[in-house]
Amino acid sequence: MAELGHEVVGIDVDSAKVAQLSAGTAPFYEPGLPELLESSLATGRLRFTTDVAEVRGCDVHFLAVGTPQQEGSYAADLTYVDAATNALLPYLAPGAVVVGKSTVPVGTAARLAELIEGTGARLAWNPEFLREGFAVKDTIAPDRLVYGVRPGDDASVEALDGIYAAAIGNGTPRVVTDFATAELVKVAANAFLATKISFINAMAEVAEATGADVTQLADAIGYDARIGRRFLNAGLGFGGGCLPKDIRAFMARAEELGVDQALGFLREVDSINLRRRERMIDLAREVCGGTVRGKRIAVLGLAFKPDSDDVRDSPALDVAARLAELGAIVIATDPQAIETSRRLRPTLDYVATAREAARDADAVLLLTEWNEYRQLDPEELGSAVGHRAIVDGRNCLDPGQWRAADWTYRALGRP
Ligand code: UGA
Repeated sequence: MAELGHEVVGIDVDSAKVAQLSAGTAPFYEPGLPELLESSLATGRLRFTTDVAEVRGCDVHFLAVGTPQQEGSYAADLTYVDAATNALLPYLAPGAVVVGKSTVPVGTAARLAELIEGTGARLAWNPEFLREGFAVKDTIAPDRLVYGVRPGDDASVEALDGIYAAAIGNGTPRVVTDFATAELVKVAANAFLATKISFINAMAEVAEATGADVTQLADAIGYDARIGRRFLNAGLGFGGGCLPKDIRAFMARAEELGVDQALGFLREVDSINLRRRERMIDLAREVCGGTVRGKRIAVLGLAFKPDSDDVRDSPALDVAARLAELGAIVIATDPQAIETSRRLRPTLDYVATAREAARDADAVLLLTEWNEYRQLDPEELGSAVGHRAIVDGRNCLDPGQWRAADWTYRALGRP
């Protein structure tokens, strides 16, 4: 927002994060963010504080707190959304606009609007579609804008149009709708993406039973423009802070609304996704000769996807931890996610490079498709391992090349 020319104050309850940001350090790995932070701080239009009173006088208030899965339930935890809204209320001026960005169960905006409108301010719901790893690009040049507003609330639409003037000027489509539709657009989009991934992973299961190759199947069906090739990469499945918890929260909300049957398929989407992790462990067992107990297993990749240090519900970290529980000696590495992994799984063994992880390994598992792992040289890695066996959990290697270098190559959904 500061880059776009607005004057911005960022509020967080976490004083360590605020101190880091004020010093120009991004609190997580995201390509392009450190440079953007530095240039925005230099303009003098961006600052950070823990003092919520500093929102006084702002025209627009973005609510961007997390909505994680509740402990012991599928539902979203709205504690932070409620706390942030309540913290804002005393400082809202008549005419100000609160803009909800958080992913919330449908119906939340209508409830918050009641509180906010009591101060003379307005609410708009403006869901966020950015992808980790592309966050800067997706924010500055989003592929669409969705505004959920009260019917006839032209002032909020105008305020948002002003904020996004650059993107709108570049032709970004925008949908102006009601609160419920805007909230649903967000979860529907993530549910669709999760379904697409689980669809291809279901095909991978069938491919495994028949000797077919799911990667060729994905290419072939992907040429149909109605289907499209994107998000048809079969492998270890989806993880992260969004897709898994969003489909679960969507199911929980549907149940409250009495339409749980409509989303019954998402339960299947979730199960297919989790079964891929089991299958990965089976393949590890197979290439280790029947058991992983006492075997040295190199794990390449821990983040839930490349170009991120995020390990929330990461399939890779989950598989690494389960192998360790089964008695394997797991040596794990990731270009960015070692520190974040260590916080969640302090007892795993972490090393800095793929080569170190692979030293004397009985098997190598590629679990996150970082570019540097895609480009590994089978001969070079082969000289480090004890036994040339690799399981490609992301279908990102060329099987021919690895087999030609005398590796046992196994993958999910490929012969
Ligand atoms: C996802 C959505 O793509 C964003 O549009 C959305 O804004 C965001 O959630 C959110 O709700 O905040 P993100 O979690 O960054 O973004 O990650 P994705 O790129 O969607 O990947 C999710 C997972 O699916 C990763 O674990 C990835 O490895 C996996 N995936 C992705 C596959 O297994 N196969 C694919 O073909 C694509």
